[in-house]
This record gives sequence, structure tokens and C-alpha cells, in this order.
Amino acid sequence: MNVAYRHDVGNALRDVGSYSHIEVSPLTGTIGAVLGGVDLAAPLDDVVVAEIRRALLENLVVFFRDQTLTPERLRDVGRRFGELHVHEFVKGLPECPEVIEILKTEDERVNFGGTWHSDVTYHDTPPLGSILYALEVPEAGGDTLFANQYLAYETLSEGLREMLEGRKAVHSAAPIYGTQGSFAARYGEDAGTALQPNEDHLREIEHPIFRTHPETGRKGLYVNGNFTIRLAGLSEAESRPILERLYVHATMPDFCCRFRWRPGSVAFWDNRAVQHYAVNDYPGQRRRMHRVTVLGDRPY
Ligand code: SIN
Repeated sequence: MNVAYRHDVGNALRDVGSYSHIEVSPLTGTIGAVLGGVDLAAPLDDVVVAEIRRALLENLVVFFRDQTLTPERLRDVGRRFGELHVHEFVKGLPECPEVIEILKTEDERVNFGGTWHSDVTYHDTPPLGSILYALEVPEAGGDTLFANQYLAYETLSEGLREMLEGRKAVHSAAPIYGTQGSFAARYGEDAGTALQPNEDHLREIEHPIFRTHPETGRKGLYVNGNFTIRLAGLSEAESRPILERLYVHATMPDFCCRFRWRPGSVAFWDNRAVQHYAVNDYPGQRRRMHRVTVLGDRPY
């Protein structure tokens, strides 16, 4: 299906000339912009923070190049946008528990985030956004994809939208972070170094299938293949075909941008309206990132 004629987000909301403290260069017609004129290592004026926030709302994911951020500075930048999440399962850096390291070594095969998802949706107040800073990147490969979930919602068939409108889906950390989850399987006996068992957070939580963004008022699709385990009121087997259909639709190329990392690049995405995917195409090479996650509010 070609959905281009139905786009009413992106360009319509973007007025790149009206920023006075930052430069905004859209990456595609529907999602993503590179921001210039910002040194994240220096103290950020309120007006700059407000413009970055506006650029995030308009573009859903924003990127910065050539930054130098210590873990403490990354944490402090994150705090300008809200309270930071301390990951329930992934151990943070000893000196900065809010910062998690996302590392794939030359010998590892599986990467972190290598499936389409939105972060931490098993939380009752899932994140507003995540900020990811690249320290070491492969010579080629290791890009990250981002998909616009407003468009995913707006371009669903009317029938499917009506069927699911007002309904909820059940989310859980178990498929990834449970003892049988993919994270534990990846780390095997070394899981103790990276994974902190946390039974309290393996409970199930319901969120609307279509959530309303608390700042833009737009509706977006809010299910993902990592943490959504079924539709509320349906069994997993009954839910699966519907969820599979939604996942395929959610990540159509028309809704996506792809970011090529360099050391010092930063991505800040809006978890309320975006899914992302860390491409695992760099066998034998090392990739190391630091991430902070900004808490959000309860989806409605
Ligand atoms: C993540 O899912 O937060 C990781 C994304 C990436 O490493 O590109």
C-alpha cells in the first residue's frame, strides 16, 4: 500500500525556519531531523531546551553530531527533559546508575534492541523518550531505524481501527527480561553482570492500543513486539495474528528513517510515538553506546 497521499504529519507540522536557537534539518518527509548549533556538553539555556523539545515533538526523533558527553553529562542533559528512569533489569554504570551501557563486542552475535520496539512499555508510566550517545561504532553498519507511530495509526484500515479503538493491550517485561527471556538467554551464565532479576517488575500492565500523545494530542499505535504479550480480553493465540498484522504495518518504510552513527552522535527519540530497531549487521565489530531514559506518564 502506498500511503504517501495520506500523510498529514511531518511536513505539515514542520516549520524549520521558525527556530531561533537551533538549526533543524529534516532527514525524511515523515520522521527525523538533525539538529545543529547545539553543544550538549555546555550548559543548556531554557530556550534551547524548549526548541529541542519542540523539534522532538515535530520530528519524533532528533539527532546531534560531534558531541562529547561523559556519563554524568549525558545524565544531566537527560534531566533537562524530565525525571530519569533507573532500569529495572539492566544494571546502570556504577558511577551513574541512570546511564546504561549498550555494548556489542566483536565476539557477540545478538545485539540489544535488535527488534522493533518502544522502550520499557511494561512500566505503568513508560518513558517519554530515550537519549542514546555513540562512543564506538562499526566502520559500516550498526545503524538504528525509527518508525512514526502516528502514521501507523492514521493509515490503518478504517475497519481495523474501529475494531481496536478504545481497547487495551497487555505488556510485560517477561519476554525480554524474565528468566526465560531473550536477555537472559543472550547473557547465559554471565547474566548476573548485566541483568538484575526483578520479579516485582514482571507483572502485566495494560495500555491503550492507540495512545494519545500527552503533548501533541495526536493518536498513535502503541503495541510492540518486545513487550506486548496479548490484547486485553483475548488469549495469546487469538491476539497473535492481529498483533503480527499491526507490527508489519507499524514499520512500513514510508514511516521510517535510518540513522548512520558516528562516534559522538546522539539520538533522542519520543517513545510515545516511535518504535526503533538497532540493526545487527556488523559481525566481528564492536559497538558501544550510553543511554538515558526519561520517564513519561501513564498512557491514555
Ligand atoms: C535501544 O533499543 O535502546 C538500542 C538502540 C540502539 O542501540 O541503536
